[in-house]
Amino acid sequence: MRIFVIANQKGGVGKTTTVLNLGASLAQKGKKVLVIDLDPQANLSSGLGFTKQFDKKSWNNTEEVPYKSIYDVLINQTPISEVFVTTNDPNLFLVPSHLSLAGAEIEMVNILARETLLKNAISEFKEDIDYVLIDCPPSLGLLTINALTAADDLIIPIQCEYFALEGLGQLIETTKLIKGINPTLTIGGVILTMFDSRTRLSTNVVEDVRKYFSEKAFNTVVPRNVRLSEAPSFGQTIFEYDNASTGAQAYKELAKEFIKRF
Ligand SMILES: Nc1ncnc2c1ncn2[C@@H]1O[C@H](COP(=O)(O)OP(=O)(O)OP(=O)(O)O)[C@@H](O)[C@H]1O
Ligand SMILES: [Mg+2]
Repeated sequence: MRIFVIANQKGGVGKTTTVLNLGASLAQKGKKVLVIDLDPQANLSSGLGFTKQFDKKSWNNTEEVPYKSIYDVLINQTPISEVFVTTNDPNLFLVPSHLSLAGAEIEMVNILARETLLKNAISEFKEDIDYVLIDCPPSLGLLTINALTAADDLIIPIQCEYFALEGLGQLIETTKLIKGINPTLTIGGVILTMFDSRTRLSTNVVEDVRKYFSEKAFNTVVPRNVRLSEAPSFGQTIFEYDNASTGAQAYKELAKEFIKRF
């Protein structure tokens, strides 16, 4: 079992889209994949079709039926084996998030060894899994630190946009600090996302990233593709939603490269 953290404290760079569709593509290729939604926004959970149930008995039908999430794993020491759910693909499993995770960072402050809560939970999970992919919130707070501490490799998605490299220094500094508790953590790869071939800017970002990260950057570049942004609202992966789209093709190529590398 190899554990990957997909992180970049910059918001909206394609972390969740990558965990979802890279995860789904790896699963289609026969790998057993566990994706963990560590973001209180829970976009990964809903994007995979995980829907909260609402209590039909309550008057206005807005009472959420309680379910166990990554919050319980971190705060209540609930084993991952009691929290993970199956998805449409028998090889793909999800640990869902919950809005309550938004308060978890504050609750964790009083817990001893608060940086290793996720690491410990994953190490007790004995299912036969090839890859764990952890989706992080856009910050370098305790949730992301837990993911960096648990992981073998850091994967950084970078959006082909203005200021793409801004803030990366901070992420790399944090990674160096984490090496105190997780000495083997390395940058496993960099994924360029939302590439727009019509703009000079996108091409410049690709060049800069390749110069800076050299072979760490994956050859596959994910294009800007509206189908990728539409699919999650139907709770579908890009392969279920539009298997012929350029987005689907890119994530398939990326999965091939990923398996070769890891
Ligand atoms: N290649 C792409 N082409 C077009 N739209 C994309 C692409 N990748 C992601 N998007 C869209 O861009 C937005 C941001 O992507 P995503 O949610 O994956 O980023 P994120 O880094 O997880 O964001 P956050 O930091 O808020 O968690 C979403 O609406 C998503 O659907
Ligand atoms: Mg996200």
